[in-house]
Amino acid sequence: MRALLIGLAAAAAGLGGAATAQNLPAGPSVPFPADTLIAARQAGFDLQAGVAASMKTVIDGGGDVKGLVDGAKGLSSWGHTIPAVFPDGTQSGHNTKARPEIWSDRAGFEKAAQNFWTQADKLATLADANDKAGFATQYTATTQACGACHRSYRVRTN
Ligand code: HEC
Repeated sequence: MRALLIGLAAAAAGLGGAATAQNLPAGPSVPFPADTLIAARQAGFDLQAGVAASMKTVIDGGGDVKGLVDGAKGLSSWGHTIPAVFPDGTQSGHNTKARPEIWSDRAGFEKAAQNFWTQADKLATLADANDKAGFATQYTATTQACGACHRSYRVRTN
């Protein structure tokens, strides 16, 4: 349940909350069907993609980025939870695209998550300063961190 709540909290944070999660441990086992946690983490990723797409719309339209600070913080807090929502026992089910390397190369996976939330933290700082040009550049760095993790740890979908 704890891991599920973490996943749901992270998803909610992606919508504008300000929870800060720090290095959450994965539980030793999943006390509910693995499919439930896998569905929750997939929903979290979908919300995260939605936040990123909304940011791109603002960037392309030249709008103020100040209002994107909560979204950027949500990306960071979700990034902190990513390793925790891939505990042992969730390698398969619910059409997961998780690659086995998440478990065989845990340090690399955690590093990819850290690289992502580090970029998202910088994005939040730039949003707070309403630095439009800096935000646009950092947005690219942040989404590149999404892609870097996917290349190594997510099954190719296209
Ligand atoms: C540290 C690794 C990592 C980072 C960083 C990461 N992802 Fe992912 N992402 C994954 C993995 C692994 C999956 C597969 C999850 C599953 O199917 O269980 C996934 C799945 C997804 C999905 C599909 C969800 C579904 O419905 O099946 C989307 C969309 C997505 N990610 C978008 C993003 C975006 C956008 C970012 C950056 C803003 C991002 N991801 C950052 C590892 C990552």
